[in-house]
Amino acid sequence: MYEHDVIVVGAGGAGLRAAIAAQEAGADVAMVTKLHPVRSHTGAAEGGINAALRDGDSWEDHAYDTMKGSDYLGDAPAVEALCKESPEEVITLEHWGMPFSREEDGRVSQRPFGGLSFPRTTYAGAETGHQMLHTMYEQVVKRGIQVYDEWHVMDLAVSDEEDPSERTCHGVVAYDIQSGEISGFRATGGVILATGGMGQVFDHTTNAVANTGDGVAMAYRAGVPMEDMEFIQFHPTTLPSTGVLISEGVRGEGGILYNAEGERFMFEHGYANNDGELASRDVVSRAELTEVNEGRGIEDEYVHLDMRHLGEERIIDRLENILHLAEDFEGADGLTEPMPVKPGQHYAMGGIETDEHGATCIDGLYAAGECACASVHGANRLGGNALPELIVFGKRAGYHAAGKDLGEAEIPTGKTGDYEVADYEFEVELGEVAGSDPAAADGGAVATDGDAVLSATVERQREFVETLMAREGRNHAEIRSRVQRTMTDNVNVFRAEPGLKEALVDLREAREAYQDVAVSDPSRTFNTDLIHTMETRNVLDIAEALTMGALARNEFRGAHWRQENQIRDDENWLKHTLVSWNDGEPELWYKPTILEGENKTYEPKVRSY
Ligand code: FUM
Repeated sequence: MYEHDVIVVGAGGAGLRAAIAAQEAGADVAMVTKLHPVRSHTGAAEGGINAALRDGDSWEDHAYDTMKGSDYLGDAPAVEALCKESPEEVITLEHWGMPFSREEDGRVSQRPFGGLSFPRTTYAGAETGHQMLHTMYEQVVKRGIQVYDEWHVMDLAVSDEEDPSERTCHGVVAYDIQSGEISGFRATGGVILATGGMGQVFDHTTNAVANTGDGVAMAYRAGVPMEDMEFIQFHPTTLPSTGVLISEGVRGEGGILYNAEGERFMFEHGYANNDGELASRDVVSRAELTEVNEGRGIEDEYVHLDMRHLGEERIIDRLENILHLAEDFEGADGLTEPMPVKPGQHYAMGGIETDEHGATCIDGLYAAGECACASVHGANRLGGNALPELIVFGKRAGYHAAGKDLGEAEIPTGKTGDYEVADYEFEVELGEVAGSDPAAADGGAVATDGDAVLSATVERQREFVETLMAREGRNHAEIRSRVQRTMTDNVNVFRAEPGLKEALVDLREAREAYQDVAVSDPSRTFNTDLIHTMETRNVLDIAEALTMGALARNEFRGAHWRQENQIRDDENWLKHTLVSWNDGEPELWYKPTILEGENKTYEPKVRSY
């Protein structure tokens, strides 16, 4: 067993920032991560970091844009924290040596991004995440923070009181990919989940293969609600054959979208008469798919993104990475031809329910970054707001877990305050299937003493792995592809009741198939068959909660469009969706959105661009 004050799970932007903050606050901190830190998916973030740094801009304007972008489902205390603290965090990165792009006069450059009323997206070429990751990893090395890399965290060691908000998290159980060892990591102060996104729930995604929502699913099974999972961002410019991201920075610099008829459809078909290509992502993605569905797509699949008019010098200076991606993954030369693009899953607005300090309803358990839902993005995230989220809330969670007093949180977690249980009747049975192997259906651990909870959790995970390795059965890949296919077919940009119902049926069947899943590779080292099998359980739980939320929410808000009710319905739906795992039964409930900020209330308005 290993022991530290604070354990950070995941080593992308949020994890690195959390670890640095926890150490600054005096904790003995360690990171446990299935990837080496600089291989984390933050490295794929291209466009930039929104921060109100310039004269003429203000955190208040950033907060207004973010609330509007969220379609009024963001919680003001979290949104305002993001916008107030982002400038200071950017300056900290700059002091740590992050090589931001600069103006002639030496100031850090900023460019326009979708849904912003001011060009406040700070960037490092089109590889901002990569530079950020390396800058923070250098700090982790410099500070001697212990990193257990290539350790896949399988489960949280959480006590098993009936009420989740009386439970305590005592550590994690992880599998050493190099040796096959399964060990407990005791956290005497707290565990911070920073495991990133869940794009592998879909089959066309900008996300890495490792993004299987592990932290979200583990927290869910331990009793923390998943919040607003139905709100998935589909980025408008991904390469059709791979899902590789073509940054919004291209449109920020002046890139133009055309349909098969050569029309600049964002204006010519009236999707966004003011902002055109720089409308919010949900608006642009729906516009592109409408063009394709109405027969104006290219090869019935995609549209063109043209940046040739920007000129070689500007493209090389600000977007060089994009040239390489388009050439390597699609064979398109962005200097001489338009690039094919279509919407692809990019980001989860929802995640582990936390307050604005990163705390969950379970004592000692925190979350930050894409896996968490504070909620900053509500129903739609603005481009350039993910990277500041990582650093602002990574830092907050790190400080909090290390015992620093951040004051009383305004955002309630767990079933406290005003909440309502959903009365939606699902036609399909959900959650665990009858006869589930208990080893595959872990909830909390029976003991309450920290060491005993951890030992019991280690034992259960060892049994689970032995069961998977010993039996004959189905392969994870078949189950995962079925989930990805149905999610892409039925829970995509445009959603309708029959498709959502079909997805739930498919997911039920996939869950049943998972009861027979087996690992055929017998090796104990670098066994990717085993890791993908464990991850697939997480993918299943997330897909189900996401689809439940999407089916019940019969309105159109932000990235969630419903055929049956194509309007935002504030009277009935100005509220967050929560799904809790009650010992194998998913339960759907709601809590109000907090629109009251420090100095103003963000009154919902018509959202047009
Ligand atoms: O388009 C992009 O560069 C992505 C940025 C983001 O998701 O914030």
